[in-house]
Amino acid sequence: MDYSTEKIREYINAREQAAGRPMLACVRTFGCQMNAHDSEKLEAMLIDMGYKLIDDERRADLAIINTCCVRGNAENKLYGHLGIMKGVKSANPEMKLAVCGCMAQANGAAEAIMRNYRHVDVIFGTFNLHRFPELLLSAIESGGQAIDIWEGPDGTDLPAPGHRHFEKKASVNIMYGCDNFCSYCIVPYVRGRERSRPAADILDEVRRAAGGGAAEVMLLGQNVNSYGQSGRFTGGGVHEKPIGFAELLNKVCDIDGVRRIRFMTSHPKDLSDELIETVRIQPKVCKHVHLPVQSGSSRILGLMNRQYNKEGYLTLAKRLKERVPGIALTTDIIVGFPGETEADFEETLDLARQVRFSGVFTFIYSKRPGTPAAVLDDPAAPGEIKRRFDRLLSVVNPIILEENKKHIGRTLSVLAEGASAADPALLTGRADDNSLVHFAADPSAVGQFIDVNITGCKTFYLIGEEAK
Ligand code: 5AD
Ligand code: SF4
Repeated sequence: MDYSTEKIREYINAREQAAGRPMLACVRTFGCQMNAHDSEKLEAMLIDMGYKLIDDERRADLAIINTCCVRGNAENKLYGHLGIMKGVKSANPEMKLAVCGCMAQANGAAEAIMRNYRHVDVIFGTFNLHRFPELLLSAIESGGQAIDIWEGPDGTDLPAPGHRHFEKKASVNIMYGCDNFCSYCIVPYVRGRERSRPAADILDEVRRAAGGGAAEVMLLGQNVNSYGQSGRFTGGGVHEKPIGFAELLNKVCDIDGVRRIRFMTSHPKDLSDELIETVRIQPKVCKHVHLPVQSGSSRILGLMNRQYNKEGYLTLAKRLKERVPGIALTTDIIVGFPGETEADFEETLDLARQVRFSGVFTFIYSKRPGTPAAVLDDPAAPGEIKRRFDRLLSVVNPIILEENKKHIGRTLSVLAEGASAADPALLTGRADDNSLVHFAADPSAVGQFIDVNITGCKTFYLIGEEAK
């Protein structure tokens, strides 16, 4: 245990004695899976420090807000949240408040937060998560604000495994950053250049997770298909001869105890035939690919710097569906990219109708200062963009429902994760193809793979009962 963590432990102990109760900590996460996994790493650090994790920042003695800046509304959420936390902190002056993540990393944002929100005690970025204990200790000891934002990674990143909320599922970073520079996207600026972890480190982490009970592993990267390709490695482990993503996946399949492997996110320009073949033949690799298309217009895809066109994407989707029967494709679509015309938008609708996605994350374009698209002309009116957004939903949602209906009458293997939030009498979990399933089963099934007979569905989930 490092010096700072040990000192914080002593402080927590003393405060626990004085208060006669455990010290509580909460990490509130905005944004993507990468951020969620960073939060798991922070939670592992908090447990080491002696905090007890809770899910309510209003009752916490330490709250960390892990921010996102991929779209403007994520930023607004942070400011709303900081406002709420001001009231919470005045009721509990001993409380510490930290802000981290992508927004903290964005140009000048950390200084502005520190200036305008004096109740924020600690702020750090995406490259120095491992410095959190030192920063917290400094804020505790000085009573002032501690801020540290790095320009880029120091070659180590943070390979430590995170705290698992559900012991059967583990997320493992295989790479950090992104080199694609899609013209609308802030990620390459706040997460840095693409760098892969050595395969030996990744396999070691998966083995440990499996040894600790994880049966499903999610391999994480902004663009997993280019794993090992940039020539930049990180993590401090042995840098053996680089291997590609398909080979890495095959090696993860060989690890005992791992029953399911997922990966996220894939970029269409790098999805190789070798990878499709691996998904096809490896029973442990889930039959689901999240393949963001962003737009169906080749002209807009060019402006987005996506490096494929509509035909290229359609060919790839067709190949995946032909080679891997039953595979589920999900996607991200941005509506209202600068200069998008009605004709461009109709190309998106046409692509969605042809591909028949099983799930679609839809976003209205949000201008991100500092990205190349931020200076492009934006002639479509907000009202028109909102209408396009609703039209897109009215095309993709009925298709999702039809795709779901195909499951009725089938028996799917579902990893039972817990009681369903909507109906506590049911359990909830995901099938191999990532379908969300609510089903009737004995509560003792939680943590197990259960055969579920699918009896019905809605747009966003399947309904079923445990097969007897
Ligand atoms: N505006 C709207 N959506 C965006 N995304 C990324 N940047 C922006 C932006 N500036 C979406 C993309 C990406 C997903 C994670 O977020 O669809 O795939
Ligand atoms: Fe952003 Fe494009 Fe990289 Fe995805 S691939 S993180 S959209 S720059």
